Amino acid sequence: MDDRDLVKLANQVRRNAYAPYSGFPVGAALLCADGTVVTGVNVESSVNGLSLCAERVAVFKAISEGRRDFVKIAVSCASDHCRPCGACRQVLYEHAPKLEILMGNPEGEFVRTTIAELLPDAFTLEA
Ligand code: THU
Repeated sequence: MDDRDLVKLANQVRRNAYAPYSGFPVGAALLCADGTVVTGVNVESSVNGLSLCAERVAVFKAISEGRRDFVKIAVSCASDHCRPCGACRQVLYEHAPKLEILMGNPEGEFVRTTIAELLPDAFTLEA
């Protein structure tokens, strides 16, 4: 799947987001090394602090399906180019320190970056 299609998919799945509290739906499409694409959306909760972002849903879904090798993730929200939050950056870095990131908008345009660029000097358990 090419970059434009990955962003398109992130935009499509954004419709499945459960975001009644923020009104801010987000979609993600994670490309795995074997070519599989796993999607995610943000899922919120009436109890503060229990919501999950689209990126982490995609990564956790993929891992639960036995996938560990991630190449690229497209993220899209309803306005501007969607930037992954700090918590998602940490999780993305842990599982794919060389991950490419496509920050998309509803028109399917995107800004290309990497997790290394978004989270320099990331935390790891290694000293
Ligand atoms: N959100 C994501 O899904 N991904 C991000 O990287 C940033 C924020 C979600 C969390 C919450 O449901 C809504 O957007 C507003 O913060």
